[in-house]
Amino acid sequence: MMPPVSGTPDARQFWDREILEQSHVSWLEHPLIRAYVNEQIGGWPFDWFERWLGGRRFQRALSIGCGAGALERDLVRRGICASVDAFDGSVGSLRLARKEAVAAGMSGRIRYFAGNFNEPVLPRRRYDLVLFHQSAHHVAKLEKLYRAILRSMTRDAVLYLDEYVGPSRHEWNDELLAAHRRVFSSLPREARDGDALPYPIQDDDPSEAIRSSEIEPQLLFGFKTLERRPYGGTLLSVLFPRLRPGAGDDVVRRLIDEERQMLRKGHDSYYKIIVARPRRGLLRPHASLHYFAVPKLKRVVREIRRSIASK
Ligand SMILES: C[S@@+](CC[C@H](N)C(=O)[O-])C[C@H]1O[C@@H](n2cnc3c(N)ncnc32)[C@H](O)[C@@H]1O
Repeated sequence: MMPPVSGTPDARQFWDREILEQSHVSWLEHPLIRAYVNEQIGGWPFDWFERWLGGRRFQRALSIGCGAGALERDLVRRGICASVDAFDGSVGSLRLARKEAVAAGMSGRIRYFAGNFNEPVLPRRRYDLVLFHQSAHHVAKLEKLYRAILRSMTRDAVLYLDEYVGPSRHEWNDELLAAHRRVFSSLPREARDGDALPYPIQDDDPSEAIRSSEIEPQLLFGFKTLERRPYGGTLLSVLFPRLRPGAGDDVVRRLIDEERQMLRKGHDSYYKIIVARPRRGLLRPHASLHYFAVPKLKRVVREIRRSIASK
């Protein structure tokens, strides 16, 4: 049996439910916001990626945290890769992904399996393309997964990551949320779902944003960035889910303008597409050692601190 996702069964149960009946509103679903995001990226993400690839094609891709499998089907439909392996912790999502692949006539080219991000079991030197789509921000053991990916990639492989890389769930505080709260309280009262803007921490999924702010810094040890497309979400991803359903397009347009201003003033994008390749030469074993040793060192430091505090 697969080990529990993120050390607790809650995350897996959450996604088994969520795939059947969506309970969370995504800022990316609003057409005006989608247009704004695509403008930041330079097109629909995979249109942009295909242009960026300049005709390069892949033999075997790995999709990490595939959910219902839209990404793999798009990859195959576009002919970006010949075959895709894909895994997820939610059995309900995998069931749906397999069904959709069969319906699209792609079952021979997409292989699904159950797996846990935090206990990765991946073959060596197999994949020339590895993809994350809104899944890396659910990874608790980032170093362990990056190490496994590094080993599973061929020398000239490409990593594509489209992710929330904003504050991790334990990092939110009043100072970090001050700019968002200023804008929220300036919106018409009837457009908001309440008076106060709470910390954007998802209680029903303990894996949400578990170490999101470390995704990029940790990635850099093992992978060289080839391209970055920050596409915002800094204000919109926090405020849009707190709008009343009938809030109206004017409110959304205003939020888009406010976010543009925030980004111009130097706030970082909470969402990014990053394209990277594995480090080469001596940097590769160095990265592997880093990914192996750092979590162990952190654990020792935590234990020492705990034992000092208890004395
Ligand atoms: C936000 S969804 C993204 C799904 C898909 N990539 C997409 O963009 O539609 C996150 C996915 O990560 C999966 N997930 C979360 N924690 C996981 C874990 N520890 N191991 C495996 N899958 C996990 C969930 O089941 C879910 O399908």
